[in-house]
Amino acid sequence: MTTHLTDLAHLPMHRIHHLWDAEPGWLDTASYGLPPRHAHTELTRVLDQWRRGSTDWTPWEDYTHRARHAFATLVAAPPTDITIGATASQLLSMLAAALPPGTTVLAPEIEFTSNLFPWAVSATLRTVPPDHLAESIDASTGVVAFSLVQSATGQIAPAADIIAAARHHGALVVADASQACGWLPIDATRFDVLVCAAYKWLMSPRGAAYAYLSPRAREHMRPIAANWYAGADPGGSYYGPPLRLAPDARAFDLSPAWFCQAGAAPAIETLNAIGIDRVHAHNTALAARFQTALGQQPTGSAIVTVEIPDARRRLAAAGVRAAVRAGKVRASFHIYTTDADVDLALNALT
Ligand SMILES: Cc1ncc(COP(=O)(O)O)c(C=O)c1O
Repeated sequence: MTTHLTDLAHLPMHRIHHLWDAEPGWLDTASYGLPPRHAHTELTRVLDQWRRGSTDWTPWEDYTHRARHAFATLVAAPPTDITIGATASQLLSMLAAALPPGTTVLAPEIEFTSNLFPWAVSATLRTVPPDHLAESIDASTGVVAFSLVQSATGQIAPAADIIAAARHHGALVVADASQACGWLPIDATRFDVLVCAAYKWLMSPRGAAYAYLSPRAREHMRPIAANWYAGADPGGSYYGPPLRLAPDARAFDLSPAWFCQAGAAPAIETLNAIGIDRVHAHNTALAARFQTALGQQPTGSAIVTVEIPDARRRLAAAGVRAAVRAGKVRASFHIYTTDADVDLALNALT
């Protein structure tokens, strides 16, 4: 039976779970997310066209358009402020590389390096404990860069405090939403830049990433990977000068990785169709049940860590795939995670 995306908002959760083919025990969306079956089917269909040469590439263009619009809807921003790229770090590099020499970038010390290394290459990077980020912003801060949800701990950043302090001191606010977008409701327009790698919570192939670039941020950026696709009229930008880039965030586009976009568009549209509030409620309820059963206070995040002796072996023996670092289990819960997945992990750990 075919399920139309328009039906998803009202479909009971057990029917939504049937859109995926997840094997029991996948608790590692913080590493990579699983595509809904119809996204995989769509990608396979396009790969088959490629294999057989049954079409030119122009029909594949539509996936990039759809993905840009779906991402814009997801983060409540105008599509004209959304750019498409390949990785979070690549998108951040376009701002980092254009910063005036000596600019200080402030970031949490436990930040994932895709949101540290681009700054360290091009600016003066200062790191502080994550809980001290907002209060550490001062007149010397040119940019404050942080993950909305920390990769290592699942901690949700106090975005309102950070934004308020940054606005007070005139610093640009850059958020990495790679571990947040897709389960945490987000209004990207509160930030100057918001980047997201799509292969985790957006359940897309590795190689697609999106960013909200505010008009203010774009004034500080250089389209260092300028290309025909970023042209005001891509079809009229194949050959010869002059430089003629799009007037909006498209000027920063990479020419699209067709097959990544073919998987990404239907996956992001699926999240929008289910509704991000519903995804958020589902994911955090499962995470809270997991934490409570292990004697912890729920943190309100879809990514949680717990310290359990011998966790790696116990989870592996039960067939649970979760990240384990230095004895700490990092478990992550997404829309396709079921109660049975949580029970499998709890039985292994308790
Ligand atoms: C917070 C965060 N940002 C970005 C990434 C991936 O970055 P990139 O797309 O540059 O590989 C990860 C991967 O784990 C991450 O956790």
